[in-house]
Amino acid sequence: MKVLVSDPIAEDGIKILKEAGLEVIIKTGLSKEELIEELKKGIEAIIIRSATKVTADVIEAAPNLKVIARAGTGLDNVDIDAANRKGIVVMNCPGGNTVSAAEHTIAMLMALARNIPQATASMKAGKWEKKKFMGREVNGKTLGVIGVGRIGSIVADRAKGLKMRVIAYDPFVNPEQAAKIGIEVVSLDELLAQADFITIHVPLTKETKGFISKEKFEKMKDGVMLIHCARGGIVNEADLYEAMVSGKVAGAALDVFEQEPPPPDYPLFKLENFICTPHLGASTLEAQKNVALAVASQVVDYLIHGVVRNAVNMPSVSAELLP
Ligand code: 3PG
Repeated sequence: MKVLVSDPIAEDGIKILKEAGLEVIIKTGLSKEELIEELKKGIEAIIIRSATKVTADVIEAAPNLKVIARAGTGLDNVDIDAANRKGIVVMNCPGGNTVSAAEHTIAMLMALARNIPQATASMKAGKWEKKKFMGREVNGKTLGVIGVGRIGSIVADRAKGLKMRVIAYDPFVNPEQAAKIGIEVVSLDELLAQADFITIHVPLTKETKGFISKEKFEKMKDGVMLIHCARGGIVNEADLYEAMVSGKVAGAALDVFEQEPPPPDYPLFKLENFICTPHLGASTLEAQKNVALAVASQVVDYLIHGVVRNAVNMPSVSAELLP
């Protein structure tokens, strides 16, 4: 049975696939046409991260595909309806990279508050500019967390350790439960009006596409700072640019973009108070090992034992029932 690994995953996962007797083909950075050609060669499972776009036409062109497995969480790069039509299981590995994503958010928060990337670039250019890079403390400031699921709740927990006041907007959260871990649940308008720093932790869906746009920026506190490590497309980046130029937003840190990678003439690159990383939220040794081990064992369980786990489009057995 052939498995195509089309985005880089940790070697630990490849080892599990091979030890189970699967034929592993590792080809990353494929164009859509190249991906379709590969899938026509008897591929039964594809393991992806966020770079591979498994669109409807890719799925239609894959005659033997049984499972699309995401070494990570987000599945907005997979056409799940198209997979459903062909009876293809779509699975992810929730949990394996949540701490990494949350820690990256905190790193971005601190880097933004203290101008660390800008000061580094300035020093490397031979300058010693203490006054220019005056920062601000996060101690006692209000962090607004939009979405307090797996990642947002860890961000909130870590921010409490930094002595921030944490408020959250999440229509799906139980306010009493949130209060137990020190999170005050508020309306979206309250969050936008009160937060000194805002961080977003929701998936990209039809409802969240373009969610943070001009009208939301207008409701934010003057001088707010925005951190976004969730998924490109949730923040309207043209509106963010305008909000930064006007001074409404004093700084922004993005790890994810509407277009990845962004084009070289990307407007936000021109702003000194804009910092960024290339979708690194889950890029730690620990998280990559976790998700590679998880995705490989899930693919083996399905292809060899017929057991479905962590599927988003089919009933899964409880992990506790597995040997
Ligand atoms: C995820 O959805 O798991 C994260 O955004 C990580 O994406 P990546 O595996 O492409 O780095």
